[in-house]
Amino acid sequence: MENRYRIPRGTYDIVPSDTYKWQYVEALFRKVVTLYNYREIVTPIFERVELFERSVGDDTDIVEKEMYKFQDRKGRMLALRPEGTASVVRSFVENNLGSGDLPVKLFYLGPMFRYDRPQKGRYRQFYQFGVENIGSGEISIDAEVIALGYRFLKETGLSNFILQINSLGCDKCSADYDKALQEYYRKYLSRLCPDCKNRLQKNPRRLLDCKVENCREIGSKAPSILDYLDHECRSEFLQLQQLLKDMKIPFEINPRIVRGLDYYNKTAFEFINNNLGAQNALIGGGRYNGLVKELGGNDIPGIGFAGGFERLIISMAAEGLTLGTPAFPIIFIVALGELARNKSVILLNELRSAGIAADMKYDRTSLRSQMKAADKSGAPYSLIIGEDELQ
Ligand code: HAM
Repeated sequence: MENRYRIPRGTYDIVPSDTYKWQYVEALFRKVVTLYNYREIVTPIFERVELFERSVGDDTDIVEKEMYKFQDRKGRMLALRPEGTASVVRSFVENNLGSGDLPVKLFYLGPMFRYDRPQKGRYRQFYQFGVENIGSGEISIDAEVIALGYRFLKETGLSNFILQINSLGCDKCSADYDKALQEYYRKYLSRLCPDCKNRLQKNPRRLLDCKVENCREIGSKAPSILDYLDHECRSEFLQLQQLLKDMKIPFEINPRIVRGLDYYNKTAFEFINNNLGAQNALIGGGRYNGLVKELGGNDIPGIGFAGGFERLIISMAAEGLTLGTPAFPIIFIVALGELARNKSVILLNELRSAGIAADMKYDRTSLRSQMKAADKSGAPYSLIIGEDELQ
């Protein structure tokens, strides 16, 4: 019989034998973002639905099919956040964070929620790390944000990943490109999946992201955005490539990166690990120069990325990398006899008060079983107290 108290599909527990691994990668991320002068921002796990409809886009898969929506007791429509950028930009505007020097450099960590089909590296609740750099359109900022992602992945010890970059162009380039895509795909209309037929009118770029085999095959010969970039976008994209080369960050150009969220323009990038299978993006990000204004703020640009801790941990384990070490006590007390036991309880308390991690086995068990427990605890010292020691 099915156990009705089982964990919901697409979620997982992080049990004590694994929590230290998460703390390790989280601490590493905090260390790296601090090197780049980013500060932490914490936003709620749920927001008004409109926020994501407006920013991520109401005809994206994330908003249309994957969002956990619910009504609160006053009838307000809320959603568990499917990603972090919309909330960070909302908070930036609402708290007037841009009133001082720009850009403002922010980072965040936390669970995100998408009702997607669970598989390796894809969950319904997953844990993201991310950064947002708001207020500057300088191409060197694009290079900094990408360099930060690269530095972090390097710090984890991973070697099996590659950076892919693209430019989605500004609004003008996009309009020209969308027209070219529509023209191309119209020739294959009858062979497209129903979703893509729909996308062709509303958002032709989404067609390039379709996972259906037939659509992918047609997409492989579709026009490339890089042929539709205007002078400014092309020149910026070249500058970015030069900066990455000068920083010795290897990359590939992939004109198929369109990203699954609507707010992007200009630079788009992903860090890919091919060992991961279908869900191969460790980190994804890009520019969103219209988003701050769209959400009620000034007309200022932004860029950022987010990555999934689950995929990172899977990749690190696959490369045999250490993920930190679990915490253990320094001293484990082994007590022989009733009097020694009572004394040990007091002693333990004193050790802990003095800042020394310590433990013992409280149950009345044999010397052998206590020594076993001491060994298992990982403590480098055990303190054996018998009658003689008590005296
Ligand atoms: P995204 O590409 O949707 O972008 O997600 C970023 C990363 O989150 C992915 O590369 C992947 O590692 C992880 N991820 C996404 N969905 C799942 C899932 N269902 N299970 C496990 N991991 C997942 C964003 O979320 C943008 N907000 C990134 C960004 C920040 N762009 C600008 N600033």
